[in-house]
Amino acid sequence: MKFFLDSANIHELRAAMAFGIIDGVTTNPSLIAKEGVPVEEQVRKICDLIDGDVSAEVISQSAKEMIDEGRRLARIHKNVVVKVPPIAEGIKAIYALSKEGVRVNVTLCFSAAQALVAAKAGAYMVSPFVGRVDDMGLSGIEMVRDILTIYRNYGLRTQVLAASCRGPLHVIEVAKAGAHIVTLPYKVLEQMFHHPLTEKGLEQFLSDHRKAFDLVSA
Ligand code: E4P
Repeated sequence: MKFFLDSANIHELRAAMAFGIIDGVTTNPSLIAKEGVPVEEQVRKICDLIDGDVSAEVISQSAKEMIDEGRRLARIHKNVVVKVPPIAEGIKAIYALSKEGVRVNVTLCFSAAQALVAAKAGAYMVSPFVGRVDDMGLSGIEMVRDILTIYRNYGLRTQVLAASCRGPLHVIEVAKAGAHIVTLPYKVLEQMFHHPLTEKGLEQFLSDHRKAFDLVSA
């Protein structure tokens, strides 16, 4: 399973990369806006840091503009994957961009139906928003399972990138379901390995070691 960092922040990216377990990055217009730097500039910086897929999202509304914008984003770096939402105009753009070899990540996916359409249109990856579906009182994990079942049934090669993951439990559940990729905010990445019993156990081991050997050498 690939781990992507869900962030456009260079410090977070550097810190996350130091763990050696990050395979790519997802950004969205809100994350880019937080950095206050134009999307092209920030995406280029991210691509210079990491050798893996980097998603950058279009903000246009018509298919024609999305296609033009998608082409521009894809030209920033060979690792850029263009994010397009599955609205009607978006589907046309996903099809056109995919056909000309631009890799598309279908974002803001909230149903298996949208994911099926995304795959039919040629998407490279689809991003079901697990946490935001949970927020609606539905099951984001069930949505991911349904998408994977449908893709397997028909041999569809679109990768499933579980997005909007709010904690390690989401990550484990989408991993159990077989999602190809999960994108994690930095905070969730840290939560993946922090455990109070590890910290408590370590404290005990070190204190026992100190008591035994500091006394001997004293
Ligand atoms: C995915 O690519 C999105 O950037 C992200 O996962 C959205 O998550 P949120 O619901 O926490 O904003």
